[in-house]
Amino acid sequence: MFETRMTKLFGTKYPIIGGCMMHVSKPEFVAAISNAGALGIMASAMYETQDEFRQAVRKTKELTDKPFGVNLSLFPAMRPIDNNLYVDVLLQEKVPIAETSGHRPPEDLLARLKAGGVKTMHKCVSVRHALSAQKAGVDAVTVFGTEGGGHIGEVGLTTMVLVPTAVDALNVPVIAAGGIADGRGLIAALALGAAGVTVGTRLLVTTECPIHDNLKKALASATELDTQPILGTLRNTVRAWKNPAALKVAELESKQAELDEILSVVAGTATRRMYEGGDLDAGVIPCSQSIGLIHDIKPVAEVIEGMVRQAAQVLARLS
Ligand SMILES: Cc1cc2nc3c(=O)[nH]c(=O)nc-3n(C[C@H](O)[C@H](O)[C@H](O)COP(=O)(O)O)c2cc1C
Repeated sequence: MFETRMTKLFGTKYPIIGGCMMHVSKPEFVAAISNAGALGIMASAMYETQDEFRQAVRKTKELTDKPFGVNLSLFPAMRPIDNNLYVDVLLQEKVPIAETSGHRPPEDLLARLKAGGVKTMHKCVSVRHALSAQKAGVDAVTVFGTEGGGHIGEVGLTTMVLVPTAVDALNVPVIAAGGIADGRGLIAALALGAAGVTVGTRLLVTTECPIHDNLKKALASATELDTQPILGTLRNTVRAWKNPAALKVAELESKQAELDEILSVVAGTATRRMYEGGDLDAGVIPCSQSIGLIHDIKPVAEVIEGMVRQAAQVLARLS
């Protein structure tokens, strides 16, 4: 069902990617997504050593025989990241797919991946950046609309406009991300010309997602009004769940507070306290407007199968 250029390129059953989520996209969760017929993407930047990352890749390989990928972060980070160290492991462990997100993928990094037979994709928020990634040689591009959870950047384009514009401009398959949480979003993205979708926030609220139950429950009862872009003053805009920490960041930004003060609220250590300890005010969590479509915590496979089933129903109704 729904064979596309994406399913052919990456060898997945469905045209759905489980978006990489920092401190969340760990082996068990990523494998659950791949086992459900979508493409799980591991986060790499949260592993401080090559060895920890290698163990995580091996664990994922043990848990799934389906394709999965690894995200290489090109965003500004508090801890300096040398992506070449992750690429070493990725090549040695024969991970089939790598995704970059953030700034333009460096040519030497892409060249190493390509020489190793790794399929590459890049995630960005504008057609200009998508064209630049295509020129650099990636196999697919994900365009990420401003309604999504995570690094939405400063251009403010919606998925509804960004996807068909990118489809018109690019030759490589385009994946749609931002605001997609059910089968209606999936079929709409395919109708816009996308070869698949990347879903983040919907997968946060699943049984296998390794965040605290308090947080899953709070997210399941949030509405589409409960998100807020923050960190725009640092030109690193992130759409986040509107909790006290996100509101604190917005307030500090409006007062032109010191960088250190802002960074202390968005620090990964604070987010991990929320993810692991369930303290809902402790840190910032990226979150999409699609949170308004999410009302229950269910297993990953039910989310993925449900999306495909609903997309097929919509298609049948329309034809
Ligand atoms: C909690 C969370 C953490 C995320 N972390 C990352 C990340 O580390 N790197 C990245 O490229 N994208 C990250 N994203 C973005 C997702 O990979 C995906 O592109 C996005 O969630 C899709 O939009 P949606 O949230 O509307 O489904 C994150 C998203 C969420 C919700």
